[in-house]
Amino acid sequence: MNNLRILKGSNYQEMSQKAADVIQAQLTVKPESVLGLATGSSPVGLYDCLVKAYENGKADFSKVKSVNLDEYQGLSPDNEQSYRYFMQKHLFSRVNINIANTNVPNGLAKDPQAECARYDSIIKNLGGADLQLIGIGHNGHIGFNEPGSEFPVGTHLVSLAKETIEANKRFFKTIDDVPKAAFSMGIGAIMSAAAVLLVASGKEKAAILKEAFFGPVTPKTPASILQFHRNVILAADADALSQFPV
Ligand code: GLP
Repeated sequence: MNNLRILKGSNYQEMSQKAADVIQAQLTVKPESVLGLATGSSPVGLYDCLVKAYENGKADFSKVKSVNLDEYQGLSPDNEQSYRYFMQKHLFSRVNINIANTNVPNGLAKDPQAECARYDSIIKNLGGADLQLIGIGHNGHIGFNEPGSEFPVGTHLVSLAKETIEANKRFFKTIDDVPKAAFSMGIGAIMSAAAVLLVASGKEKAAILKEAFFGPVTPKTPASILQFHRNVILAADADALSQFPV
């Protein structure tokens, strides 16, 4: 694949710094960038690096607009497990971004269909992301686009896969507390971003990363669609890349 650039870090910290450098460069080149943002444990380190860059005067978020990938249905912004809360905690409250310019699906929306349409129009009005940050689930999901029989194009309400509920239970008191559904940006929005930055670390991501980039392009492995994206940057540590053919 000649559209894939790999930034390899020897460990999580190094991977995080390399990924943060990409975002920092994006902000330098275009201070009014639209950033697609992600949650999960993979981007926490890179958000810390971005906060440091901001504190050292090397990153300015004042003109940035952001659009997050996803949100659990039923969780309010002040619920510690909600993705809005996550973003406030790890990034938004620590840099000079204007909160009014940040977008996360509304987990409490009464009318899910209207919420999906609202979110799609936000993405459209922003002109799509200049740089879309994503992680990857153990089953190959990106955002909350779970394995299925087709690639969902627009924002949609997803019933979370069993393995996703299982993987994410570590953030909740019990598995029953994990929401069973979430709003997710569609594959269409991810693919229309000018560049995609995927972060992955750890041995447990090695098999799915190989499958995503070297296996068949199929909605059974949602991340495999990235093989068709013109500009993908993969920031990963040595463990996550351990099954990559060299
Ligand atoms: C969650 C999120 C994804 C994330 C994935 C991997 O379910 N919805 O956006 O990429 O899990 O998370 P982690 O980085 O913690 O492995």
